[in-house]
Amino acid sequence: MYSLVVRKLKSVIAAGGLGTRLQNFRENDSTKILLDVLGVPMINHQINQLKNWGCEDFVIIINPDFGDLIKKVTIEAFPNLNIQFVIQNKPKGISHALKQAESCIYEDEKILFILGDNFFENNPLEDFDLNSFKKGAYIFTKSVKNPEEFGVAELDKSGNVLSIEEKPQAPKSNQAVVGVYIFDETVFQKINTLTPSKRGEYEITDLCNLYVNQKNCKNFLIDGWWIDAGTPERIIELEEKLS
Ligand code: G1P
Repeated sequence: MYSLVVRKLKSVIAAGGLGTRLQNFRENDSTKILLDVLGVPMINHQINQLKNWGCEDFVIIINPDFGDLIKKVTIEAFPNLNIQFVIQNKPKGISHALKQAESCIYEDEKILFILGDNFFENNPLEDFDLNSFKKGAYIFTKSVKNPEEFGVAELDKSGNVLSIEEKPQAPKSNQAVVGVYIFDETVFQKINTLTPSKRGEYEITDLCNLYVNQKNCKNFLIDGWWIDAGTPERIIELEEKLS
């Protein structure tokens, strides 16, 4: 029997982090994601970036203190966009943030998860074929000079991920894991099995490694610039790139 299945991708944006390294930068007393970047709050740059990649349905993970403000600035700028908001009550890590979106994901949907402060020159999804994606996870990496500041992936020649280490002192490669991930619907069961790391957080790297252990984590190498805009210097760099 013929049945029409529309496979969809929901974009989940982690926007709950307080961004302690940016406190007081440009009199910022709220949260990183609302920081003014060329006259526009960072979250709205992020939504525009995802729209440019073809994303249509959004979930934004907010924190209890600044959630209302984030809702206000996004709805004002994008009144017709399909955006849901969910609250992460405690800052218990990036995987914990993603878990909060569970009730917004339909059974047949895949998840594009992006850290709100990550920006890219080129669309990392360009070579990604949603229709042939069934199970597993995708990460995206870029060769950098300072891998020890990021998650670092060890890859084989076919693009399979062999391991990921979070901010290792002795990185096994120079491939930094950028803040964009694609997950199948088993991601939430996997998050349930995680335990907090030494710093007390449910780490995104531990989550990805559950897919790696199942030999079900693939990598895309990205080209063009990538900025993880978590420090004053990187915000300035982002502004230079965007102008
Ligand atoms: C997080 C992840 C790290 C990843 C980075 C990308 O680190 O834990 O694996 O490489 O985002 O931006 P954070 O920037 O929160 O320290």
